Amino acid sequence: MSIWRIKPVSAFEADMKKSDLKRVLTKWGLTSLGIGAIIGGGIFTLTGIAAHDFAGPALALSFVIAGIGCLFASLCYAEFASVLPVEGSAYAYAYGTVGEIFAWFIGWNLILEYMMGATTVAVAWSGYFVKLLHLFHIDFPIWLCNDMATATAKYAELGQAAPAFAFNLPAFLITWLVTAILVKGIKEAASTNNIIVIIKIAVVLFVIIAGAFFIDTANWTPFIPDEVHTTVDGKDTVTFGFGGVLTAATIVFFAYIGFDAVSTQAGEAINPKKDVPFAIVMSLVICTVLYILVSLVLTGMVPYHKLDLAAPVASAFDGVGIKWAVFLITIAATAGLTSVMLVMMLGQTRIFLGMAKDGLLPFKMFGALHPTFKTPFRSTILVGGIISLVAALTPISRVSEMCSMGTLLAFSMVCVAVMILRYKKPELERPYKTPAVYLVGSLGVAFNLFLMYFVRPETWVAFLIWGTIGILVYFIYSKNHSKLNAPQQ
Ligand code: ALA
Repeated sequence: MSIWRIKPVSAFEADMKKSDLKRVLTKWGLTSLGIGAIIGGGIFTLTGIAAHDFAGPALALSFVIAGIGCLFASLCYAEFASVLPVEGSAYAYAYGTVGEIFAWFIGWNLILEYMMGATTVAVAWSGYFVKLLHLFHIDFPIWLCNDMATATAKYAELGQAAPAFAFNLPAFLITWLVTAILVKGIKEAASTNNIIVIIKIAVVLFVIIAGAFFIDTANWTPFIPDEVHTTVDGKDTVTFGFGGVLTAATIVFFAYIGFDAVSTQAGEAINPKKDVPFAIVMSLVICTVLYILVSLVLTGMVPYHKLDLAAPVASAFDGVGIKWAVFLITIAATAGLTSVMLVMMLGQTRIFLGMAKDGLLPFKMFGALHPTFKTPFRSTILVGGIISLVAALTPISRVSEMCSMGTLLAFSMVCVAVMILRYKKPELERPYKTPAVYLVGSLGVAFNLFLMYFVRPETWVAFLIWGTIGILVYFIYSKNHSKLNAPQQ
């Protein structure tokens, strides 16, 4: 009953044979899925907080820093995907190479990545949706489209007292809509995703090209605003300066999350060993270039301290007086954010499914498929329920930071695992090899752990509590129910 036992490759192959998923995805189809998962709340919403509160015009630098860490991780993910082209992402890779407890812990962190990721995007969606309604002169009361803390701050800005109650209703409702789509099945969603990806890229290119004409280079000076020390709730907080650029990097890191979601689709790829690694790296590279350009344009169009926090990209065009662009961006962002939620929530239920099949989670809850729709409906509804409530009641920065923490640790663990596998099993066939694996892997670990250091202390506390619960669940439930306890079954 070793906690380091490894799931044999033959067991993965048997799982894949049993899978009745159709192999339909080409390398560009996979890349499109990746981009569909990547471009979302990070670029459309968090850029506002990151530039306004922490980095100023140096937002682009924050994107470069976060992008480098992700690039290292993606190169490691790509090698794994070529060795074990299975669903389940990093969790499955670790189970096949490093050992059960390591895999469990990655899976536990992926819950933060995918669930808190979808939660963040639900809140971001609400921000854009409310803006869209506003364009049609329909205004939600502040207390009905924000969590308590955000609503209180907004009322205070208006010189009004805090509300007795606040609930982000649009975030709550969109989550249930996506949940319903996922329970019914995603066949239709896949083709819709391609259309949404095209719209998203078109709008991002529009922002870059049209926005470039409105850049006032004076807005870029000083590029890194001077460090500011403030006291919030009796605590010293540092914003701006190089420290601020790094904190902003931890915030916009969120914008890159999703390239790894490609690896959850390996079961549907025509040629997974070659195409999944390609799509992982390609989708990340395309988005990195787009992000750096968008952040330069945004901070060039509007002084960073005037960027809107809920819908910064659309508002930048409002600021320069192009009203029709505000419509266009708001509609595209609203649709685009929905597709990110779909992929994130889908990824979460697939990872749960993998863990349930391995016996590490209760099968009835996380693995059993709906008799008609053939989807893991119970876990989908559970995931939807949790996301809808957290999204309705929590400020976006809190959930996005939790998501980033979990992901940063999962990425670091993948980098470690790929090096261990190279060392322990050099003979394995690797259609894609991470270049200079020990260097890239070590830099990946260093970069991602370094970024974790800059996350706020409150988030660290929540993260440590989450990790402790994970270890307890492993020892109380998962270790005893693992399928590897009874290999003859
Ligand atoms: N990268 C995804 C987003 O920004 C999670 O929404």
